[in-house]
Amino acid sequence: MATMSPRVRKLALTAHVTASVGWFGAVAVFLALAVTGLATRDAATVGPAYVAMDVTGWYVIVPLCLASLVTGVVSSLGTTWGLLRHYWITVKLAITVLATGALLLHLPPISRVATAAAAPGWTGADLVDLRTRLVVQSGAALLVLLGATALSVYKPQGRTRHGQRHKERQAAPA
Ligand code: HEM
Repeated sequence: MATMSPRVRKLALTAHVTASVGWFGAVAVFLALAVTGLATRDAATVGPAYVAMDVTGWYVIVPLCLASLVTGVVSSLGTTWGLLRHYWITVKLAITVLATGALLLHLPPISRVATAAAAPGWTGADLVDLRTRLVVQSGAALLVLLGATALSVYKPQGRTRHGQRHKERQAAPA
């Protein structure tokens, strides 16, 4: 991919930061809903909390994490950063791919809780293990995304082997 012009690069970076940090914010909402769903006994609150989680997951978090991945790859390939030259980018790529996979695996159980919580006869004692896991997983996801944001801002030095070879080739006289 050719290097982007400064104007296009800024546009790509704006889209990337918006999607990535928006993803963090949406997961914070997810965690608040998961805690509410687990801690509240009031059936009138519990059902809507899981329905809101289901909607937030499919219509906000999935689009944002895919947008973060696509815009991140564009920002990498369209700049001298490259995709696999620097550890901070390779680690973010791995985090984003793994987090997206984990999210897609965990959304169907959330839909299951949302359906069960909205059904008559639901009690606060139903599906407690699954609901507890949702709290733990949302909290863990939030920490991982915080780590990815810190990596992006600090950009710790350290090139991959591929990045080192690339640098040597650049430095070699033509
Ligand atoms: C967890 C997901 C991610 C978060 C929270 C995140 C966050 C950010 C933030 C806040 C910046 C701006 C840093 C600055 O300008 O000082 C940034 C830049 C960048 N990110 Fe990400 N990112 C994520 C995923 C990815 C992925 C998957 C890639 C690519 C594989 C990537 C590649 C990049 C690159 C190359 C830049 C610098 C772009 C430039 O200088 O034009 N990011 N990221």
